[in-house]
Order: sequence, then C-alpha cells, then structure tokens
Amino acid sequence: MGMEYTLTVMVMVMVLVLSALRNFSGASEGEECEKRWIHIRKLPSRFNLDLLANCSEYPMLEDLCPYLGNHGLGQKTHNRSHSWYRTDPSMLELIFHRRMLEYPCLTEDPIQANAIYLPYYAGLDALRYLYGPEYNSSAEHGVDLFKFLQQDKPQIWKRHMGHDHFVVMGRPAWDFSQPLTRDTPTWGTSFLELPEFYNITALTLESRAWPWQEHAVPYPTSFHPSNLPLLQSWLNRVRRSKRSILAVFAGGGGLSSTPNIRRSIRTECENATSDCRLVDCSNGVCEHDPIRFMRPMLQASFCLQPPGDTPTRRSTFDAILAGCIPVFFEDLSAKFQYGWHLPESEFEEFSVFIPKEEVVFRGMRILDALQRIPRPVVFRMRDRIFDLIPSVLYRKHNCSPALATRKDAFDLAILGTFLKIQSRLRDL
Ligand SMILES: *[C@@H]1O[C@H](CO)[C@@H](O)[C@H](O)[C@H]1NC(C)=O
Ligand SMILES: *[C@@H]1O[C@H](CO)[C@@H](O)[C@H](O)[C@H]1NC(C)=O
Ligand SMILES: *[C@@H]1O[C@H](CO)[C@@H](O)[C@H](O)[C@H]1NC(C)=O
Ligand SMILES: *[C@@H]1O[C@H](CO)[C@@H](O)[C@H](O)[C@H]1NC(C)=O
Ligand SMILES: *[C@@H]1O[C@H](CO)[C@@H](O)[C@H](O)[C@H]1NC(C)=O
Repeated sequence: MGMEYTLTVMVMVMVLVLSALRNFSGASEGEECEKRWIHIRKLPSRFNLDLLANCSEYPMLEDLCPYLGNHGLGQKTHNRSHSWYRTDPSMLELIFHRRMLEYPCLTEDPIQANAIYLPYYAGLDALRYLYGPEYNSSAEHGVDLFKFLQQDKPQIWKRHMGHDHFVVMGRPAWDFSQPLTRDTPTWGTSFLELPEFYNITALTLESRAWPWQEHAVPYPTSFHPSNLPLLQSWLNRVRRSKRSILAVFAGGGGLSSTPNIRRSIRTECENATSDCRLVDCSNGVCEHDPIRFMRPMLQASFCLQPPGDTPTRRSTFDAILAGCIPVFFEDLSAKFQYGWHLPESEFEEFSVFIPKEEVVFRGMRILDALQRIPRPVVFRMRDRIFDLIPSVLYRKHNCSPALATRKDAFDLAILGTFLKIQSRLRDL
C-alpha cells in the first residue's frame, strides 16, 4: 500500500510540474485575459505535496491515499467507467490546484496578476490540529505560511496587503474559526481568525453565517466528465429518468429520541412506504460509493436536504446532478452559501423550502407539502435544475476543448473570486 501510493504521489508531482510548463507556454494573451491574470505563488512542498505523501498517516482517519488518485478525483468507480469516481470532497484543494495549472491566463509576473493563488492544502494541513497530535496548538495553523509569505518575496504580499490573495480550503469554514482567545481548545483551528489572514479570500465548502474572508463553492460530486458527449449523455439520462418516488432522503442520523429534523424525516418516511425512500448512509457507507444514492435520486422528484453536524451537505449537489429537486429546511443549507453557483434571488425556482421548526414542532408533514405542489410547477423546477447541472459539477482536468467552453463549478468560482477581490481592492 505505502509503496504504491508513494509512487502515485511522485507521479502526481511530475505531472503537476509538466502540465505547469506546458500550460504556461500555451497561455493565451490579450483581451480574453484582461483583468483575469492569476499568479500561482510558489510554496515549499511542506505546504502542499508533503501533505499528500503523508496520506496514510493521519491519526484517527482512514487511509486518505486512495482519494488522491486522478489529481484528487479519486479512483474510478469501475474500470470501465468514463466519468464516475470515488471522489472525497475534502480533495477540493487538489482538484482546484490541478485545474488552476490549466487556467488560460496564468502569469509568472505577480505585478501583472489580478489575483494571487496560494496552492496551500489548508484542510489537509489542518488535520494534525483537528485530530492531533497538535490539537492544543490549533491557534498556530497558518502562522508558518504567513511567515513564509513575509520572508520570501515579501513585495508580493505587500503590494495589496494580501487583499489579492486567495486560497482553497476543502472543509467548512467552521473548522477554521476557533476564536484565538479561547483558553481551552474547542473544535477547529484559528486560521480564519488570525489577523494575518483577514485580507485573503478563502474558498470553502461551507461559509459561516456572517462570512468575512470566505465564500462557499460546491462540494465535488463523483461525476467528472472529460468531454461534451459524456456530459450530454448524462444530461439525457437525467431528463429521461422516470420519477416514480416522491422523495428520497440519503443520509444517516435521526435515530436519537430528541426531536430534530432528521428524526422527523425518518419517522415520516418509514411510515410512508411508496412515496418516500430512505437510503441508509450511516457510518459513511455512501461517501465513496455514488451508486448507492444516485440511482434512487434519479427515480425521485424531490431530495430532502436536512442539516446535520453543519448546515450544508454534499448531497445537495448529488441531488442536482441527478435532476432531483432539493428540499431545504434552513436557509444556511444552500441559499446563503452558494450564490456564485446557485443564484440566491432565484432559489424558489429550483428548490423547495420547508422551515424545520414547522416540521419538528408544529407537526407539518413534509410529504403532504410536496404532494401539494402542482405538477406543472414541479416540471418547471426540474427544468431549472437540469440547466444548473453543468455549472455545479467539476469537470475532469485536461478535458476536450468543446467541454472547456461550458463554465463549470471551478470556472464560476474563479469568476466569483475576481469579483470579491476587486471589491476588496476598491474598498482599500
Ligand atoms: C508527515 O508525517 C511525519 C511522520 O508522521 C511527520 O514527521 C511530518 O511532519 C509530516 N509532514 C507533514 C508535512 O505533515
Ligand atoms: C481494473 O483493471 C486492472 C488492470 O487493468 C485490474 O488489475 C483490476 O483488478 C481491475 N479492477 C476491477 C475492480 O475490476
Ligand atoms: C491538550 O491539553 C490537555 C490539557 O492540558 C491535555 O490533557 C491533552 O492531553 C492535550 N492534548 C494533546 C493532543 O496534546
Ligand atoms: C490588511 O489590510 C489592511 C488595510 O485594509 C492593512 O492595514 C493590514 O496591515 C493588512 N493586513 C496584513 C496582514 O497585511
Ligand atoms: C406511523 O404510523 C403509525 C401507525 O399507522 C401511526 O400511529 C403513527 O402516528 C405514524 N407516524 C407518523 C410520524 O406519521
């Protein structure tokens, strides 16, 4: 195991370097890139590749090595699969890094750049603080990076005092938001609380209720097409799919006796027989096995997205990918999160909102509420969901030129990042 993955990592490093060279020489120029230049900051390998080499050694976690394959997409689900991978969303940092290397407007010159990308695998580096052995020094997460940025070519940071820098963090922002003043450590590192990093933009899987640095981007799903026909054939399959189940919930929890939304869903769904389907994802059995939940989602009109440990779920994006209309129980689950990809002002056009208090404390029945939505409205919502699919998925790196013209989750995240950075620079 260890040997094989050491090799995988070495191959990855080589491919990263090679593709960086190839793409740099092929960078397009002129108007297309105006105000869109990005400089990739060169960081010592302890901030990225070394963290991959340690993939089997993180305490309290399963072996992460299999998820590094295919530049963070993970292993294919089957040998003959073209587009489906066992993707772990925490590999967002790798997936972004790989895609950034083929971004068409890269520049070696930081002065010409409109944004500076820090290829730092912040979430992977956080593991030693989150799960030990450095649990008690989680206020130091990021200090070493900041020191490096001040010592090595400090003029790059100084030019805009970090306001033009961005980083990808493949976890909820909550995991990086422990107040510095806390005496006894609680969950999380303090990366986003460090004054040193107030000025940067962070792309996270979930933002806080009142985000300052961060903006949320979609969780990676398991579908990563590499050309237009592969995307098209999936879209056709989604459109043609017969939806004989009213609602699906793919998840775990809801087994305790205290009232909460997951428990309400479970009891209602267990009683409902044909209208509702529970896909048991307890103990993480679904995480790297998309077939378990994609099939039922393809057969359902609505996919229930209750909050769990945190308000957001990867399942929201699996559902959209399956053409299944998401049902939210609080606004923090998506509406106040993914504005770059799921426009906040149009939320009612492609999703259903049922306040969790109504269900848990006032006896509102979810399935009744969904049943009452007129069929033409359901069809309209589903059409909007179909339109959203290409923009919430992360296509495969090195894809066909035709597919590259369709903006995916990465492209929209970069556009959003530029807007955020521009507004920060304007406010200086
Ligand atoms: C990788 O793991 C080794 C041993 O567990 C540790 O000494 C080293 O600091 C780790 N490297 C990184 C970059 O975390
Ligand atoms: C996939 O193919 C490789 C060699 O081509 C083989 O070693 C492996 O067992 C296959 N895996 C599965 C799941 O069929
Ligand atoms: C953290 O500090 C607490 C209290 O001082 C101690 O009991 C615990 O063992 C420490 N944890 C680690 C991982 O060092
Ligand atoms: C962040 O920006 C402010 C100005 O907006 C500046 O005063 C401060 O020094 C910057 N912080 C760092 C760490 O560069
Ligand atoms: C489930 O069904 C049983 C028996 O039909 C009924 O007593 C119970 O109230 C139902 N529970 C819910 C949550 O509908």
